[in-house]
This record gives sequence, structure tokens and C-alpha cells, in this order.
Amino acid sequence: MIERKEAREIKMCCATFYQSDLARMLLGDVLHPGGLELTGYLGTVTGLKSEDRVLDVACGRGTSVVYLAKRFGCYVTGLDYGQDNITAAESHAATESVAHLTAFKEGDAEGLPFEDGSFDVVISECSFCTFPDKTRAAQEMARVLRRHGRLGITDVTISCPLPEDIQSLLAWVACLTGAGSPELYVSILKDAGFIEFIVEDKRDSLLEMANDVRRKLLGMELAIGLGKLNLGDFNVSEIKHLAQRTLELIQNGTISYKLFKASRK
Ligand SMILES: C[S@@+](CC[C@H](N)C(=O)[O-])C[C@H]1O[C@@H](n2cnc3c(N)ncnc32)[C@H](O)[C@@H]1O
Repeated sequence: MIERKEAREIKMCCATFYQSDLARMLLGDVLHPGGLELTGYLGTVTGLKSEDRVLDVACGRGTSVVYLAKRFGCYVTGLDYGQDNITAAESHAATESVAHLTAFKEGDAEGLPFEDGSFDVVISECSFCTFPDKTRAAQEMARVLRRHGRLGITDVTISCPLPEDIQSLLAWVACLTGAGSPELYVSILKDAGFIEFIVEDKRDSLLEMANDVRRKLLGMELAIGLGKLNLGDFNVSEIKHLAQRTLELIQNGTISYKLFKASRK
């Protein structure tokens, strides 16, 4: 059981990292494996229609919100713990001319600031793994969905406990330490009131992203050595070690990425 103070620190660190210049340099604006192609697939699998009211829990900089609103014509609300992410998301929606189809709110996935049954579809990408209280987050997703509403999650999963060197706060923020097995996620979601599960493997998306991050880190290390880049408090060697270990653990099957589709009872 994670203490409240520790849980708040995890959420803060996660939001701070994913709002940072470093995250933007490493990941761009799409902060999940598979990019917008996988987001589009998630939208198709959850059967998005123009009349749907959709919630993206932990929406980051709103890239998926804007993409889904444009592609499916539905009204999409994005929620994130980081205020800077919300500000960036609002500006992105305005630039892409979908401000009328989108809304953004700062908030916590473990206490969603929405009425019961306000949405037809809830999605969450690469974020469930970072929530310290997954039971609460799953209950909240079920609460804000209408009866028979649809849920679509893509997330990091593990097949066995991670080694000691992947148990740091940095590893949590990198979506590793907080990750659970696919069976655990399904069991938490079932207890929260979800049924009719479809689980698909998306490991290749994670492998591609991990390789890409590792390549970028090598370039950044070079730039730091030449005095052309300063990352302030971030320790690139530590991040590089984590990226290398993550790659090994994806390759040996310990870490993967899965898509979960379910319906609310
Ligand atoms: C890996 S990023 C994914 C962002 C976005 N879903 C995407 O795919 O681009 C994780 C996001 O979770 C957000 N986050 C972490 N804990 C949260 C919480 N308890 N409630 C809401 N958002 C949270 C972070 O601020 C960050 O934007």
C-alpha cells in the first residue's frame, strides 16, 4: 500500500517530467508508444462515433484528444494532473481548430471532477501504470461512464516482478515500477464493474519507442559533453541506464505494452 504523501509525490513527479523540455526532446508531443496510429486504432476498437462524449484520462498535452475529435468528430474532454500540460493542450486544440469539440481540465484520475455517467467512452493511454491507486482510478473511470459505456486503455505491463534497479521514482515516472500484469489490470477493472474484455499485444510499439529514446539519449549525451545542452536537474546517465535496462526487459519479454477494451456493466 502506497502512503498518501508518497502517492502525491509520484503524481507530481510524473506530471513535472511529462511537462518538461526533456520529455519533449525524447518523446515529442505524443507521450505513448504507437503514436497517433495506435490512438486511432483505440478509437476504432472502442467504436467512436460523432455523437459520443469521450474522456481521455491523463491526456498529457492533448495530442490524442485533438486527433480523436478531428478524426471521429466526437466531443473529447482531456484531464491531466499537470496544469502546464492542460495549457499546452488548449492551445493545441485552438491551433488545430477543434476548440469547439474539446475541453480540458486539470485533475486527478483517482478523483475525477465529473458527474456520474457523463461519458460514453473513456480512454487512457500509457498512464494507468503511473496511478498509485489503480483500484480507485478504475472505479472513477466506471463511475463517470454511462451504463454500457466503453473503455479503451493502452498501457505498459509486466510478466514478473521487476529487478531492484527498476524500482526507483524515475522508473515509476517512466511507467515501469507502477506497471502490473495484464491479469492484474483486468482483475482491477472487473472489480470496478467492467466486463467483455479484449486484450491485444502491442509490444512492438514499445520496443520501437524504447529504441528511439535510446538513440536520442546518445545524441543528448554527446551534446552535453560538448557543452551544447544543459538538462538542469535531470541525470542523463541515470536515464540512459534505465533506457538500456528497459530495452533488455522488453526484449526478454518481462515488459510489454497491451491494449485493453472493455464495457461498463
Ligand atoms: C506517459 S504520459 C501519457 C500522456 C498522454 N496520455 C499521451 O499518451 O500523450 C502520462 C501522463 O499522466 C499524467 N498523470 C500522472 N498521474 C496522473 C493522475 N493521477 N491524474 C491525472 N493525470 C496523471 C501525467 O501528467 C502525464 O501527462
